[in-house]
Amino acid sequence: MAATPFDQLSGDIWYDGTFVPWSDAKLHILSHGLHYGSSVFEGERAYGGRIFKSEAHTERLLESGRMLGFEIPWTADQINAAKEETLARMQLTDAYIRPVAWRGSEMMGISAQKNTIHLAIAAWEWPSYFKPEERLKGIRLDLAEYRRPDPQTAPYKAKAAGLYMICTISKHAAESKGYTDALMLDWRGHVAEATGANVFFIKDGAIHTPTPDCFLNGITRQTVMDLARARGIEVIERTILPEELSGFEQCFVTGTAAEVTPVSEINGTTYQVGEIIKTLMEDYDAAVRPEAPALQAAAG
Ligand SMILES: Cc1ncc(COP(=O)(O)O)c(C=O)c1O
Repeated sequence: MAATPFDQLSGDIWYDGTFVPWSDAKLHILSHGLHYGSSVFEGERAYGGRIFKSEAHTERLLESGRMLGFEIPWTADQINAAKEETLARMQLTDAYIRPVAWRGSEMMGISAQKNTIHLAIAAWEWPSYFKPEERLKGIRLDLAEYRRPDPQTAPYKAKAAGLYMICTISKHAAESKGYTDALMLDWRGHVAEATGANVFFIKDGAIHTPTPDCFLNGITRQTVMDLARARGIEVIERTILPEELSGFEQCFVTGTAAEVTPVSEINGTTYQVGEIIKTLMEDYDAAVRPEAPALQAAAG
């Protein structure tokens, strides 16, 4: 049976300061955000009723808007409170939270100086991003055709809708070949990230991960690096070349949605799901749970 489309779920959505029924949370066709990609968003998860790193996500949302040249007309405290209210109103404890901000309809052209900035927050129940059985055996990645852009081409630190255009194209291409996702190189041809998650490799007991100089430095990425270091595992941020992929023993991706997910193959190169990955999966699961203060402290 097909899943219910997202516009047909039930409940309420926080929309510009008030709650509206799910089916009424609409915007006009002539919205700048839709035509020109002037939209930023967040992806967050609540575990046991607590939104993990809620403040960090809100800061990134506000900064993303600023990088696109607009100020979201709500303070961080107001947005944090609105997310909590949305969760409570939806009676959700384990959920995905999607704040999204966009330029409205006052001007319809490249220039949109006078457009109202809108903010909406939706929350829904959402299990693991990748299917659980896939998660345990590791996912398979293809190599994407598109590359993460040069920082002089786009504001790469923004979680901006426009930057996802090449991610969807790349993910669709990978899926059509039977892969779960795609690994993207950057504009220089260095290993960058998956279409919605950061990537890590393991060799000789150390973790290697690309320096986030042209892609999102994920909140999960930072958390997992802290967790690994708390375990005494060396974490090396550096340039990783595609020729190196076959020399690594293990690989995994991280993201709010993906959490810590092992990778079993990148375009023909296979990886084991080893002890370090299993430990980090467990540590991350423990860190996001509200009842684990010690690990949360280690997770920064
Ligand atoms: C392109 C991309 N890279 C990395 C990440 C990981 O970011 P985070 O851990 O903050 O969710 C995401 C997910 O938001 C993403 O979409």
